[in-house]
Amino acid sequence: MIAYSSVYGGTEAVVEILAAKLAQKGVKDIKMFDVSFAEHSKVLAEAFKKSHIILATTTYNASIFESMNRFIHSLVSHNLQNRKYVLIENGSWAATCGGIMRTELEKLKGSEFIAENFCIKSAMKEEQLVELNNVVITIENSLSL
Ligand SMILES: Cc1cc2nc3c(=O)[nH]c(=O)nc-3n(C[C@H](O)[C@H](O)[C@H](O)COP(=O)(O)O)c2cc1C
Repeated sequence: MIAYSSVYGGTEAVVEILAAKLAQKGVKDIKMFDVSFAEHSKVLAEAFKKSHIILATTTYNASIFESMNRFIHSLVSHNLQNRKYVLIENGSWAATCGGIMRTELEKLKGSEFIAENFCIKSAMKEEQLVELNNVVITIENSLSL
C-alpha cells in the first residue's frame, strides 16, 4: 500500500513512478491513497490487509504534513504491528519528516524499515532514479517475487 501527501506534486510524482515500477515488476493489488483526500478509515483498513506500506510526505514547519501526521497517529493508536515500511521524505531546505515518521512507527511492535529513507528536495532529480530503482528491487526481494 502507498499512502502519501503532497502539496505541489513533487512527492506525488515520486509515488506514481514508484507504483508504476512496482506494477511492472509484477506486484499485484497496489493500493495508493492521498491521505489529504482519502477517508482515513479506508486507508487504515487497507493497511491492515497489506504486508508492505510505503509512506511519502512533505516536511511542514520542521514536522510531518498535517494529514499524514494524523494518519500515522491512527496507525499507532490502532497498534498496527509487523509491517514492512519504506519512507519517502520531501523537504525544500531541511527534510525532517522521514525521521519523525520513523520514530512514530518504531513505537509499533515488529515495524521493519526495509530501505533507507528516500529523500527528495522539492522534486526528484533524474539522477535519483537509480536510487529509486534500488528501492524497487529491495521491495521486490522483500516480497519474494
Ligand atoms: C508552510 C510550509 C512549511 C514548510 N516547512 C518546511 C520545512 O520545515 N522544511 C523543509 O525542508 N521544507 C519545508 N517546506 C517545503 C516543503 O517541504 C516542500 O514545498 C515540499 O516538500 C514539496 O513537496 P510537494 O511538491 O510534494 O508538495 C514547507 C512548505 C510550506 C508551504
